[in-house]
Amino acid sequence: MLDSLLQEKTMLGEILRTTRIIPNALNMIKLNNNFRLSNQVCLSTSFKLNHGDHDDALPGTILVKFIQKDGSIVETKARDGEIALRLAQRYDIPMEGACEASLACTTCHCYVEDEIFWDRLPEATDEEEDLLDQAPFLDVNSRLGCQIIVNSDLEGLVLRLPRVTKNFYVDGHVPQPH
Ligand code: FES
Repeated sequence: MLDSLLQEKTMLGEILRTTRIIPNALNMIKLNNNFRLSNQVCLSTSFKLNHGDHDDALPGTILVKFIQKDGSIVETKARDGEIALRLAQRYDIPMEGACEASLACTTCHCYVEDEIFWDRLPEATDEEEDLLDQAPFLDVNSRLGCQIIVNSDLEGLVLRLPRVTKNFYVDGHVPQPH
């Protein structure tokens, strides 16, 4: 009995040693656009920087302006790859995002103000279009803020918040970003 348990334990150890998801020799991690070799064993198939909130510590560099409901303009600096909804929330701009960017509401509705940016943004998906159809005050330049991914091509982007959005919450609750 003891022998068979020890044998199973040894086999399990052998399996774990030989089936690591990313072997040492191939464990190259992309860090800040440079590749570096690591002697660490990584059991994840995604890049380390995709875990946790590492990017939250990086300063933003891409200028994005928000025109608020009262007409005031807030200048922000977006991080490369940051979605406009998160950027707005970082600067306490009241873009709501009730579904937390899961493409299930219209509370991140905004207008892309300058035509030159219309072509620089990827076309809205069918899901985004379907949701936008339900947004109050829909316009030709309407987009969902959670679907706008900011990159350096969008330097100077201006987003205007609509007069109202349709909120799932009847008590006026505004969800906070996690
Ligand atoms: S936050 Fe709900 S669709 Fe953008």
